[in-house]
Amino acid sequence: MILETERLRLREMTEADLPALRAILRDPAAMAAYEGAFDEAMVRDWLDRQLERYRHDGFGLWAVELRAPGSSAGSAGGGAPVIGQCGITRQRIDGDEVLKVGYLFAREFWHCGYATEAASACRDHAFAELGAERVYAQVRDTNLASMNVAIRLGMTVRSRFVKHYRGVEMPHLAFAVDRAG
Ligand SMILES: CC(C)(COP(=O)(O)OP(=O)(O)OC[C@H]1O[C@@H](n2cnc3c(N)ncnc32)[C@H](O)[C@@H]1OP(=O)(O)O)[C@@H](O)C(=O)NCCC(=O)NCCS
Repeated sequence: MILETERLRLREMTEADLPALRAILRDPAAMAAYEGAFDEAMVRDWLDRQLERYRHDGFGLWAVELRAPGSSAGSAGGGAPVIGQCGITRQRIDGDEVLKVGYLFAREFWHCGYATEAASACRDHAFAELGAERVYAQVRDTNLASMNVAIRLGMTVRSRFVKHYRGVEMPHLAFAVDRAG
């Protein structure tokens, strides 16, 4: 277990999380900002990239589990439903290497505040444990729900940049929040 919030638990993903990953990454609506649903090979690559990040960086996108009501802090979890992914990754924005909070949730768990709750814990973890002075979110300029999460994290827009992904030029906004004090 990496992080715990009032309603959620974040832990490293494993092979057993492939079905939960598929539910998000193969959903065209959830993947609209990524230019559509992934195929099976892309889902596999996505999981492998997170496992590589855990090994190399010690962090990456983590599985987000819904805690059973009343479960005590630090209890083992296991078998709890995985409702999304949230975590911290290294990214290059405008030539600088930065720490970025990422969040993708299964559609049936949108509009409950879970993304903001998980991402707030990741932001705080980046400041407290990873020594970050600034934490970013990178958001495609069409992704209003994601912008609203960034704003709820206390972030403001710092710059624009264009990502080249899946053969498409995608204008993005770099949101960031600075360590307090
Ligand atoms: C981006 C994404 C995670 C945002 O999800 P979201 O549900 O809009 O965001 P939150 O989990 O913070 O929920 C906020 C909503 O929950 C509501 N809410 C309900 N109960 C709540 C509670 N207890 N606490 C806080 N908010 C609550 C808020 O009022 C808000 O409502 P709204 O959606 O009508 O504005 C989701 O759209 C997603 O997974 N998209 C696909 C992947 C993606 O694009 N990721 C971002 C890439 S940059």
